[in-house]
Amino acid sequence: MAVLDQLTSQQAIDLENKYGAHNYHPLPVVLSKGEGVYVWDVEGKKYYDFLSAYSAVNQGHCHPKIVGAMVNQAQTLTLTSRAFYNDMLGKYEKFATEYFGFDKLLPMNTGAEAVETALKICRKWAYEVKGINENEAQIIVCKNNFHGRTTTIISFSNDPVARKNFGPFTEGFIKIEYDNLQALEEALENNDNIAGFMAEPIQGEAGVYVPSEGYLAAAKALCEKHNVLFIADEVQTGIARTGQLLAVNHEDVQPDILILGKALSGGAYPVSAVLANDNIMNVIKPGNHGSTFGGNPVAAAVAIAALEVVKDEKLAENAERLGKIFREELAEFAKENELVTLVRGKGLLNAVVINDTEDSSTAWDICMKLRDNGLLAKPTHGNIIRFAPPLVMNEEQLRDCINIIKKTIAEFKK
Ligand SMILES: Cc1ncc(COP(=O)(O)O)c(C=O)c1O
Repeated sequence: MAVLDQLTSQQAIDLENKYGAHNYHPLPVVLSKGEGVYVWDVEGKKYYDFLSAYSAVNQGHCHPKIVGAMVNQAQTLTLTSRAFYNDMLGKYEKFATEYFGFDKLLPMNTGAEAVETALKICRKWAYEVKGINENEAQIIVCKNNFHGRTTTIISFSNDPVARKNFGPFTEGFIKIEYDNLQALEEALENNDNIAGFMAEPIQGEAGVYVPSEGYLAAAKALCEKHNVLFIADEVQTGIARTGQLLAVNHEDVQPDILILGKALSGGAYPVSAVLANDNIMNVIKPGNHGSTFGGNPVAAAVAIAALEVVKDEKLAENAERLGKIFREELAEFAKENELVTLVRGKGLLNAVVINDTEDSSTAWDICMKLRDNGLLAKPTHGNIIRFAPPLVMNEEQLRDCINIIKKTIAEFKK
């Protein structure tokens, strides 16, 4: 078999199993093509993508404008490193800071790197602006968070599978309950060493937990009162996913530090970023932080195109409208189907909670049947199925998908 021979699904799975580290448990489907809301497997079967690469492909698979920008830039200049200037990075930084309303942007590649960057900026600000004694800064985070996979980030995770045997861990984090303002207030009271509070505006990986209305705005106000930075990790919720450009926009909150990734490139390329105003970002000086690929010209061209698509195609408005239909239809269905406990979410970031024990395989089994019926989704922690299609979906396609989901779940007996 030559390296680039066409494979069957089973051959592709066997290769990954034998030669790849087993750090994921994928649904057994092998994809070889994508366009808009659809993906195709190597045997040519067509599916609706209802995961969007964990909300990275918000603009749809292989969006021609994004791919065009990428190919064009890839044929011109791909990488200079930050040892030299390139003629795309500044244009992108101007465009993106105006787009999101911040003074400055620090470019990275993956979500986890951007989270690490935000934590470093926050700590440096704490020592150099707020005046906390060196090495004493603490950052408040939320239980059941998911911010990525680096050693520091898993240091404040409470997922045993993500942490076991990866210690020792990074210190300086205080974990409080999500969506609990009293817990935040108590953590902030009488502690002058708090530098920041970092949260996901909706906890995506944990199972699409939407906090109570007003939580984000009140949390931001508490942070302001205590001179603490409010850090919003919008890697999954950002870029129109929840029906607004950013999930914090639902409550008119401007974070002190904004973390973006995933759909910042429409899933075409790894692009992430941290945005903040000068009073915060200026603590970063040459040599403090960096990445060989961060801010490369291809990433810059791709991100500009990806953000333009979001506005041109009104993806936030579409997510808001279709999300309402999705939740209404499935909430109605839940009334008569005892397997569906509830549906929750915002915009097109939604989850269906399956009425079964956490360790049962029902959600997985349903996802396998959904696959057979032409729709790809994946369980997230326990018996919860996340439903997050590309935001370029139209109403007819969404209604088709709702029918597939209802029909599939109806075939299951508890
Ligand atoms: C909220 C949040 N932050 C950070 C990350 C990490 O992003 P990446 O996988 O690109 O490192 C994720 C990934 O799912 C995420 O959902």
